[in-house]
Amino acid sequence: MTPPFIPLAEPWLPPGIADAVRDQIRSGFVGPGPRTQAFADAIRATTGAAHCHLTTSGTIALSVAAHAIGLRPGDEILVPAYGVISTINAFASVGLRPRLVDIDRRTGCMDLDLLEEAIAPGTRAVCFVNFSGYTGENLRRIAEICARRGLPWIEDAACALGHRYEGQWAGTFGTAGIYSFSVPKVLTTGQGGAVVTADSAIADRAAAFIDHGDLEWRKTNLNREIGTNLRFNDVLAALGHAQVLELDARLARRRQNYLVLREILGERLYGVPGPEAPLHNIVFTDEPDRLVSALGGASIGAVRQYRTISQHPAYRALADRRFPHADTWTDQAVYLPFGMAMTPDDAERVGRAVLAAGVALSEAAQVYQSG
Ligand SMILES: Cc1ncc(COP(=O)(O)O)c(C=O)c1O
Repeated sequence: MTPPFIPLAEPWLPPGIADAVRDQIRSGFVGPGPRTQAFADAIRATTGAAHCHLTTSGTIALSVAAHAIGLRPGDEILVPAYGVISTINAFASVGLRPRLVDIDRRTGCMDLDLLEEAIAPGTRAVCFVNFSGYTGENLRRIAEICARRGLPWIEDAACALGHRYEGQWAGTFGTAGIYSFSVPKVLTTGQGGAVVTADSAIADRAAAFIDHGDLEWRKTNLNREIGTNLRFNDVLAALGHAQVLELDARLARRRQNYLVLREILGERLYGVPGPEAPLHNIVFTDEPDRLVSALGGASIGAVRQYRTISQHPAYRALADRRFPHADTWTDQAVYLPFGMAMTPDDAERVGRAVLAAGVALSEAAQVYQSG
């Protein structure tokens, strides 16, 4: 008998969450209203961010953050050469000129030595991605580099809600930071995102851009800047608010699954610094397709995802140089199921199936978790 399918990233939505959404709908507030404010306030209180504004996705949160820190069409922003397409698209789609910096092979994050070399007179900003929740000393280092070079930086903490370094929450290190609430994340509203910052002028510009360019226009009937409608709503906020209040339990659930997998796969499983589990469960092999297919045969939804950004036809123009570490990840990384709905039994089944696939896991996975 075929065992039940374990999807790549199934959300975990216990019944209390559906109750919160139903109650919200019954309240009659379904647009941007008090629950949207309460959800933003809860993220602020949880992360220690001074300001938080919600928007429709993590991608849009990045575009809003870029506008809020003062970037304008034509400006150059440095981004990692490997990862989800959302990060670079968020900037290119609003007319910025992204340029790629290779990643550190061990961490999956932008290599900061290469960043130092890549900063040019025309560079206006940097976007550092906390890859899969990766934090650590490099957050202090990028802050130092950008301060020294007079550059604002956006911390793409889309995957890093809950991760801390020396007690400070990922997302709050950058000039502005963002979170995503898409389906695979530890907290999901289906779609959604947030911009956080310690700077009140940046926060006001973000809030204004999200709501037609002016914080007062509903009172004054005057719009002083151009913006658009990227506002969140109370139905999705109820979904998110119920989860942020239980974030510790959600993080614990993910840690538990990760530790089961780690017990089976050891250091060949990607890890991040600190006590939290990475968002993704990643292994590396010279035979990624064979591993994905063997896991598929065991009813497990593993995938190869993400690639060197310059391999996408849309970003062919950035292929004028090589990004060897991004290429290694592209060629070798396999993403095992990591959804919040996974149970420790699922994690055990996944780990055993990886071993049973008879595929050698490669040295490239010798990344560390400092504990
Ligand atoms: C690193 C990173 N940045 C940005 C995003 C974009 O977030 P969203 O899917 O909410 O637009 C994602 C989404 O997966 C992500 O992983």
